[in-house]
Amino acid sequence: MNTEEHQRLFIHRGTFPVRGVSFGTMFKPAEYSANDQLARRETSDFIQEYSNEIGQMSGRCLDIGCGPCDLVVDSLLPVLNPKATVVCSDISKPMLDYAKEKYGANDRLSFLQLDIESPTLAEDLVEQFDHVTSFYCLHWCEDMRQAFENIFDLLRPGGSGFLTFVSDFPCMDAYKVLAAIPRYQRYMTDADRFIPVFQHAERPRESLKMLLEKVGFEVCHCSSRERIYIYETPDAFAKFMACVNPFIHRMPSDLQREYRIDLDIEARKHTFIVNKDRNNDYSILSRRHTFVVYLKKPLVH
Ligand SMILES: C[S@@+](CC[C@H](N)C(=O)[O-])C[C@H]1O[C@@H](n2cnc3c(N)ncnc32)[C@H](O)[C@@H]1O
Repeated sequence: MNTEEHQRLFIHRGTFPVRGVSFGTMFKPAEYSANDQLARRETSDFIQEYSNEIGQMSGRCLDIGCGPCDLVVDSLLPVLNPKATVVCSDISKPMLDYAKEKYGANDRLSFLQLDIESPTLAEDLVEQFDHVTSFYCLHWCEDMRQAFENIFDLLRPGGSGFLTFVSDFPCMDAYKVLAAIPRYQRYMTDADRFIPVFQHAERPRESLKMLLEKVGFEVCHCSSRERIYIYETPDAFAKFMACVNPFIHRMPSDLQREYRIDLDIEARKHTFIVNKDRNNDYSILSRRHTFVVYLKKPLVH
């Protein structure tokens, strides 16, 4: 990795002006929960692939960016060692409230508001977790080094982590185009920080592995997997793009309607039409790369 690449990947790209507020409302929990099936299926496949390693995770686990917690309950808990408990954490209070409401009665789960990218990790969390998982969350982080240093500090020596997150998703380049349109500009001043950090990296897998090793992890596995998603209808694709869009909820509702249409048009430029039938019904194919990482914190460091 050259110096320029290093700076682009790991140095703050400007301070996010309204971090707390915007992250709190970044996703609408019910909307996300209803439209994330393909991402959830992909993650479940990765959990199954690593079921031997995850099956050995016992004790106190931390899931980072748990969202509505459907994935933790449906796919992670059944694979973890039956003695494992999970602290479900998320930066967003609305997400945690939704998850608590839905799954609060499950005695293997507890809930914690946590910004994994925080420069001031609470002392009482340090080395409190035997294992860490995180699915489809870490690409929201701007300062990856800080996020991984925090994960390192949260883990007990000898602990392990299983992480999946987006390496590149070309549809997110739509944000750059939309942010340049005057009527959206003021709601998208921080558009760059929501395009995954590794999106345009020359060697994303190597860069990530190097960073993890620098932080102190033993990297047992680190790959970038190409995944093809087929959204059965154009509407399903549009709904997915809207449910993971961090800007939409900052806008007044009449502008939101217009923005949804423009987001769909721009994002579709990075997709393909497939399965067109006689009635002109068709599906949308999109491509992305996902990091799959299994790591350990050494017993002695
Ligand atoms: C796309 S959702 C994924 C939810 C769940 N893990 C899943 O796979 O279904 C990403 C979640 O990460 C959370 N998130 C984003 N940035 C975060 C941060 N810095 N610290 C903790 N959580 C964060 C968001 O609030 C959101 O709930």
